[in-house]
Amino acid sequence: MLKATRVTKKFGELVAVNDLSFHVQDGQIYGIAGPNGAGKSTVFNLITGNYGYEGKIEFGGKKITGLSPYRIAQEGIARTFQIPQIFPSLTVKKSISVGSRFGARNGLDEDHVEKIIRFVELEDERTQKTGRLNLLGKKKLMIGASLATKPKILMLDEPMAGSNATEIKELMNLIRKINVELGVTVIIIEHFMKVLTELTEKLLIIESGSMICCDAPEAVTKNPEVIESYLGKAYAERD
Ligand SMILES: Nc1ncnc2c1ncn2[C@@H]1O[C@H](COP(=O)(O)OP(=O)(O)OP(=O)(O)O)[C@@H](O)[C@H]1O
Ligand SMILES: [Mg+2]
Repeated sequence: MLKATRVTKKFGELVAVNDLSFHVQDGQIYGIAGPNGAGKSTVFNLITGNYGYEGKIEFGGKKITGLSPYRIAQEGIARTFQIPQIFPSLTVKKSISVGSRFGARNGLDEDHVEKIIRFVELEDERTQKTGRLNLLGKKKLMIGASLATKPKILMLDEPMAGSNATEIKELMNLIRKINVELGVTVIIIEHFMKVLTELTEKLLIIESGSMICCDAPEAVTKNPEVIESYLGKAYAERD
């Protein structure tokens, strides 16, 4: 469904993404992990067309390299950001409507907006200003606004950051529901390895922009190179 071939991104001297190739299958929940500064968010920024790069990215068999972010979004690729990006003075309903207007070819789809508000369980906050939502609420809102564009693939950049155990559980359930009930393919960047091993079918580990390994999560967490460079011995020796 989403295929990157030999993608390289340099910021001046720094090689943020280094000759990276990977393939996300339709219907998968696909994970990306790696140390701080590994190039994970940059991978998302390249997929969404924020920067030029070497190599090629295809989506649904079509080359999207070189398309504008707006066109790429219209192909059915949506994302959330590492730090929640919201319009604090808009209501929840209005914010999700903005997503719907952005994605819909025939204008705003009111029924879809209502469906999404219920889907992310923000119906009680519908008329609240988004600036007043708590962190979990803001995250659900950001996911809801992305879903309102009716994406085929949703890319989540560290959705669990700053969340407590209860919130993580709730977000994990929401991500599963997006994948199963809406049939949306998901790519998730995450630092919590437990979240990745429970949610994902395939896991890509990168370091300094390069792939260290890409496999089923059970295999990845046993990979000596991953343990050495990323997980650390403590993870490998636990339970
Ligand atoms: N716009 C930019 N201009 C210059 N350097 C950048 C830019 N964006 C990212 N970088 C650099 O590229 C490298 C990869 O950054 P990136 O944000 O992709 O890492 P990350 O894996 O998402 O890290 P984190 O886990 O901290 O979010 C870092 O060294 C970062 O400083
Ligand atoms: Mg990042």
